[in-house]
Amino acid sequence: MTIWNKLSAQAEAVRNRPLLELFEIEARAGSFSAEAGGLLFDYSKTNIDAETRDLLIALAEERGVAARREAMFTGAKINETEGRAVLHTALRNLDGSVLVDGADVMPAVRETHARMVAFAHDLRAGRFTGQGGAITDVVNIGIGGSDLGPAMAVLALAPYHDGPRCHFVSNVDGAHIHDILAGLNPATTLVIVASKTFTTIETMTNAETARRWMATKVSDPAAQFAALSTAGDKTAAFGIDPSRVFGFEDWVGGRYSMWGPIGLSLMLAVGPETFDRMLAGAAAMDRHFRTAPFAQNLPVLLALVGIWHNQFCGYATRAVLPYEQRLARLPAYLQQLEMESNGKRVSMDGADLSYHSGPVVWGEPGTNGQHAFYQLIHQGTRVIPCEFMVGAEGHEPDLAHQHLLLVANCLAQSEALMRGRSLDEAREIMRAKGLEGAELERQARHRVFPGSRPSTTLLYPKLTPETFGAIVALYEHRVFVEGVILGINSFDQWGVELGKELALALAPVLDGSSDGAGKDGSTLRLAARFRAAQGG
Ligand code: F6P
Repeated sequence: MTIWNKLSAQAEAVRNRPLLELFEIEARAGSFSAEAGGLLFDYSKTNIDAETRDLLIALAEERGVAARREAMFTGAKINETEGRAVLHTALRNLDGSVLVDGADVMPAVRETHARMVAFAHDLRAGRFTGQGGAITDVVNIGIGGSDLGPAMAVLALAPYHDGPRCHFVSNVDGAHIHDILAGLNPATTLVIVASKTFTTIETMTNAETARRWMATKVSDPAAQFAALSTAGDKTAAFGIDPSRVFGFEDWVGGRYSMWGPIGLSLMLAVGPETFDRMLAGAAAMDRHFRTAPFAQNLPVLLALVGIWHNQFCGYATRAVLPYEQRLARLPAYLQQLEMESNGKRVSMDGADLSYHSGPVVWGEPGTNGQHAFYQLIHQGTRVIPCEFMVGAEGHEPDLAHQHLLLVANCLAQSEALMRGRSLDEAREIMRAKGLEGAELERQARHRVFPGSRPSTTLLYPKLTPETFGAIVALYEHRVFVEGVILGINSFDQWGVELGKELALALAPVLDGSSDGAGKDGSTLRLAARFRAAQGG
């Protein structure tokens, strides 16, 4: 039997095993957890036992995770459908040297980083100013990977924020840029156009809007623009001075790009030193990932738990539940990271997958989610593996009592999911409330929790820049390992193309310059209704 088939059989065999039973084995919590850089990953509240773990590790070995990992770190072109290396790790290992096509890429990485640092120092010290004085606000215009990473990071590192206010515009919906710019003074605002390709329609449309807005108040709007892109020719055509263009190479995937120029808004907000602390945390996770044995390797273990739940247990979604308000944007960030990377339907060689690819990822910070969707997680008919995360310490020492409540809620949820409440326990509760007979039975049944619902918990010391960098790098590598095990290319995103093409083709139908010949009846009717509403 193949390892894959053994794992499928194992999943069937243990499907109804109560999780609590696993804790009859002494020291389960200790042996089903691992630690790196102060991050403790506890996966003991899952249905993985020693035999399953051995099989999962054997699967990772069989699928060549170690070799592929080395190929990634050393600059091999593992993004095979685009013929590109995958080297976001180079952006945070600035001392290293990595060859792509025989040339060391690191001197250019270091030079761009140094230029970002110099620009950040100048802006933060008031040496680079707007045409109305010191820069008070920075507007990052970008979408997807050119938005989600820095937006998440600026919020995550709010306690370290001592630079200009940062705002993020992503949506092509004019409401987004309108509402952000409405509160700002063009003469003291820096606009950053963040786009790897510098062709993304949403970003370029918003950039034009911002330039018009800037021109209403300053004589030289382009002087208050910066660009983050791989496309130097296009940033020049837009009129942005090369001194404020921070370039990077095609081996940085959009959703992996916050460590380099795409992180400029964060660097301006928190300063280069704090930014570099984040890089150092991520680099430490890289070293751990590259060297730790699989059984102690956090990204590998996270991936194996994910593969177990999705591919073998058949749980289609994964909830990410940070008990950390400042990680509010992490679920959205992970949606792109995980679903754009591993939402594929064919293997690297183009063959149809015979199993499911990546799961649906979603989530919200606790405790807010508890008062919204946890009902379904506890009592719904579907099993949803939950990934809890929480810091041992908060940043507000005078609110330590609130932090204690936060942690208590986090731990209580994973306990409740595992423990559940039996019908007998529910009957007891109803009896104590004075109910009896058929009404007691009916009411008790609504109060049963099936329990044995799997979860993991990531406990970290405090959301410092280092810890934040390590958490994001942990998830990046987890996605990588899952992709290797699934045999797919985690670094392309062809699935976003069709909608983009059709949107471009539909614009003339909506403005009436095309009759939309060949379009389906539904799309044409909706377009006609739009035109009618416009008076067209
Ligand atoms: O459409 C998807 C995508 O290509 C993402 O992968 C990327 O992060 C985003 O668009 C933005 O792309 P760009 O940085 O080139 O504007």
